[in-house]
Amino acid sequence: MIAILVGPPGSGKGTQAKVLCGKFGIPQISTGDMLRAAKGAGTLDPRYRAIMDAGGLVPDEAMIELIDKRIDDADCKKGFLLDGFPRTVPQAEALERLLAGRGFTIDAVLQLDVARSLLEERLIHRRTDKRSGQIYHLVYNPPPPDAELEHRADDRQEAVGKRLDAYEAMTAALLPYYEAKGLLRRVDGVGKPEEVTARVLGALGRVQSEES
Ligand code: AP5
Repeated sequence: MIAILVGPPGSGKGTQAKVLCGKFGIPQISTGDMLRAAKGAGTLDPRYRAIMDAGGLVPDEAMIELIDKRIDDADCKKGFLLDGFPRTVPQAEALERLLAGRGFTIDAVLQLDVARSLLEERLIHRRTDKRSGQIYHLVYNPPPPDAELEHRADDRQEAVGKRLDAYEAMTAALLPYYEAKGLLRRVDGVGKPEEVTARVLGALGRVQSEES
């Protein structure tokens, strides 16, 4: 299965991706995680690091190159879940070319719908365990006392507004693109994470039954 998770910052893409990938035995390809890993290793271009920290979008060409390499890895042979890519129409067009060249097609694009008023609060209180990568929320899903917590640079108040604006300005154009292709499934992203997972699985089940 090849599926894409789309949604504004804080809509729960990472949270849902971890559960879905565990269930389906496919890798999560998160461009945000890949960029943060490069940043942590000191190999990220300093221009991209500054863009990320300020809440902007890294240039399309750099992101497309990253995905082009990643989907050739052995763990992607049976499919994968893209989280945070594509984010723009040029990225989506490039992805289509990359997949077609390898004989792959997209099964579904899942859009997590969450009102902007809820997103800021989710982001500002997010913390990630450095060792396990587990995502927590200081209020809704508090971390265990022994977690080694990290507060993302782009989860500070100043960057959060800019990220939400960037989503609305650029990523939102993706939705009509995938809707026109009949791939888009809208999922209500509000409620307990496990309730959202059930809705996502329902949307994927619909894809599978349409395929058979
Ligand atoms: P990326 O890492 O992809 O960040 P994002 O899209 O902004 O999404 P987030 O990771 O912030 O949120 P999420 O939807 O995964 O939510 P989460 O599950 O963590 O990208 C970071 C940056 O990298 C970008 O800004 C850009 O600079 C760059 N970049 C990456 N990809 C790029 C691309 N393709 N092109 C250009 N630039 C790119 O949940 C958030 C919080 O809410 C957590 O605290 C969680 O516990 C909580 N939560 C989750 N679900 C629920 C729920 N149901 N109810 C209550 N709380 C919940």
